[in-house]
Amino acid sequence: MNYIRNCILGMSMYVPDRILTNNELEKMVDTSDEWIYSRTGIRERRISTENTSVLGAKSVEKLLNKLNKDPKDIDLIIFSTITPDNNTPSCACLVQKTIGASNATAFDLNAACTGFIYGLVVADALLSSEKYRNAIVIGSEMLSKIIDWKDRNTCVLFGDGAGVAYIERSKNGHKIVDTYTRSVGEKSDSLVSAAVPISNFILGESVNSDFSIHMDGREVFKFAVSSMVEGIDVLLKNNNISIKDIKFIVPHQANKRIIESASQRLKIDVDKFFINLHKYGNTSAASIPIALTELSESQNLSKGDLIILVGFGGGLTYGSILIEW
Ligand code: UT7
Repeated sequence: MNYIRNCILGMSMYVPDRILTNNELEKMVDTSDEWIYSRTGIRERRISTENTSVLGAKSVEKLLNKLNKDPKDIDLIIFSTITPDNNTPSCACLVQKTIGASNATAFDLNAACTGFIYGLVVADALLSSEKYRNAIVIGSEMLSKIIDWKDRNTCVLFGDGAGVAYIERSKNGHKIVDTYTRSVGEKSDSLVSAAVPISNFILGESVNSDFSIHMDGREVFKFAVSSMVEGIDVLLKNNNISIKDIKFIVPHQANKRIIESASQRLKIDVDKFFINLHKYGNTSAASIPIALTELSESQNLSKGDLIILVGFGGGLTYGSILIEW
């Protein structure tokens, strides 16, 4: 019996054409292709000249064309990002304007690299309320604008891009079976990019205008491995299934060594993880929807396959989603 569930009906992605290779970075900071590839698995990343909302809108236009959907029928636009074009208007409202989704409710969401997972969880809950029939969930970032291009600790890691999912209450599609999210605000200092500094006529001149990403790499690495393992384990336990039942895991694409460490802890082959970070680096909220788009286009998924999306990032935040393809 096929019941109505919240289903992903399609995925799409957009990345800018400009490729920034490790060899180019060697000319900018004291680093090497050997160091970057062996410590992270990254070979190259994309760099955009267009802002975050534009990247997101381009991924959405591709998806709506693919699914032959009328923008006027979209009920919800959720845009996950830590690199919005503005404080206001939101990127979601800018996408709404660009695509002409005049009947939608649109808002941004910030959960850093877990943003797409959080976005899907919010969409899943709002669709279940039956006040909305469908949603597009976008993960889009122009991280290049908040990177200190003189800091070798961070500038080699990140890239720009966007990915999107279309979700609908439907009998057909890729079912959202279960979700899990957590946040760890106590560890907020481990990964920081400041917003506009406090400044008004009483306080006087602003003192800090450094918006770039700062990170305790080792601390975030440890958190990443343990949160990925927890996110996967919880879904397996809650749904009474084993890791053997899972066809693919689509992790946040931060560092190949993080994924390898998680696979060792889970006692599974690393090949169960879909990895494309060598091409795009860490694109934060965009990384999981870009990876899921590429996996779905690879012909390696069949109807009924179980997959897990798992993410972690600034906040700190983490979460996972079980999908029946
Ligand atoms: O999306 C979530 C956000 N972020 C993450 O998930 C990142 C999590 N952390 C990581 O992926 C890793 O910790 C990094 C890739 C950031 C760093 O790798 P690591 O193996 O933890 O290196 P490290 O920070 O311990 O640094 C080792 C050495 C240091 O030199 P010394 O002190 O040993 O002389 C660094 O200064 O590597 C040096 N180093 C570099 N060398 C060449 C740091 N960055 C570079 C670089 N090129 N780009």
